[in-house]
Order: sequence, then structure tokens, then C-alpha cells
Amino acid sequence: MRRTISQLQQQKGGTPIVMVTAYDATMAALVDEAADTILIGDSLGMVVQGHDNTLPVTLDEMLYHTRMVARGTQHAFLVADLPFLSYQTGTEDTLRAAGRLLKEGAAQAVKLEGGRVVLPQVQALVGFGIPVVGHLGLTPQSINLFGSHAKRAKAEDAAKALLDEARALEDAGLAMLVLENIPHELAAQVTAALRIPTIGIGAGPQCDGQVQVFHDLMGLLPDFLPRHAQRYTECGRHIREAMARYAEDVRAGRFVSR
Ligand code: KIV
Repeated sequence: MRRTISQLQQQKGGTPIVMVTAYDATMAALVDEAADTILIGDSLGMVVQGHDNTLPVTLDEMLYHTRMVARGTQHAFLVADLPFLSYQTGTEDTLRAAGRLLKEGAAQAVKLEGGRVVLPQVQALVGFGIPVVGHLGLTPQSINLFGSHAKRAKAEDAAKALLDEARALEDAGLAMLVLENIPHELAAQVTAALRIPTIGIGAGPQCDGQVQVFHDLMGLLPDFLPRHAQRYTECGRHIREAMARYAEDVRAGRFVSR
């Protein structure tokens, strides 16, 4: 049975929620048992498609990856990112994009970035029965405004503004909130102030859950690791070594296909 949004919400203040990204059926099947929820993140623009940021990812591409993840899983709650320009243009576009991710992609919730500016979108989605996950702090779709991936909301007024936005999003009906790359004390404050779960990435241990990008967690990119990430294995190195052994065997005429 797939987990539901209310089961995840009941974990607030209890066992921390485990969220990880996945982008295809094989990857998703491997994490399905251990994860409470899988995010089909638009980070796929970088780690799968090789772009510099998430902006080029299209709704059709998100649908393609969401369908694959849905086919590979049975347990985890599925959250799909609304890509850049699928919701910024208004509530009608937002409903259509989110509707497609649920209807054609089998996502159970959508995630969008931003605070007060997306309140009408959150209200519209929730009004039509679509669970919404928010995203505050370092919001990658605004990379051109920030200019870097540095920590956000470090100054007192920015921290207060983020807390206000989190409260406003919750009042609009948000189901969960991702907090990315903000001071740990601020994440703890937001977590204590909200009734809904917070999921942190580079936001400290006091969030109600943690999310990591699959490729970072598994060491698939041996030459790159963001500051907020932790590697639990060295898949990238193992794959390079295995590939070198395979190539050596083929070139030496030792490879036998049974
Ligand atoms: O796209 C993504 O993977 C995300 C996580 C980093 C939270 O938004």
C-alpha cells in the first residue's frame, strides 16, 4: 500500500520523515522500501540531463520521469516538482500542470517554490484536492536572482520574512514544507511554529524529515558533492572501477557472454 499524505503529516514531532529524490524506475525501486516519500525533483535537470540549473526542465520531461518512478514503486508517497514556468504564470496553468502530474504521472502531490507569491496557486490546488509541498530558503528556480547556492535567510529580517511566509503557506493549506539551505536555528524555529512537517536539506537536524538528492547520497558524481549533502556509498567510483575491469576483459579477449 502506498503511504498517504496524512500518514506523513502524523509523523510530525515523531519519527523523522525520510525523503529522497529518484528519477527512473530502477532507482526508485531501490529506494522504495526505505523511503517514506520520493521526490521526483527538477534537480533531474542537473544530475540526469546535465544542465547547469533546473530552469530548462519542462513539464513533459517531469511527466516522463514521474511515470517511471511510479512504475518502479509501491510504497513511497510520490511528490513531483512543478517545473519552472508551469505555475508562475497563474492558477489556471498551475492546475493544469499539477493535474497532469497526478493524472498522467501518478504523482500524489506536487511541490512548488516560493512564499507569498504562490499563495493563490497553493489555495487553488488544495481547493481541487491536490496536496502541495512548499519550498523555501534556497529555491533553485530563482538561481538567477540569488547568483549562487549560498545559505539563505541569514540576516534577522530575512529570517523573520521566511517564518512569516511559512506561516502564510500553511494557512493557505500547504501539506509539507521543504526548507533548503537556511540556518539550522531558523529551520528549528519554523518547524516549531508550524503544524505541518518540515523537510530539511542543509537545514539541520531539527526538521521533521530530511531530503537528499539520490546522486549525492549514493556518490554517483565522484567529483562533486554539495556542502549540504552526505555520501552513504561510492557508487560512482565502483561503477568506474567495474567499467575499467569490463573494458580490460573485453580488450584482452577474456569476456565470455554465457
Ligand atoms: O529538485 C530537487 O531535487 C529538490 C530537492 C533538492 C529538495 O527540490
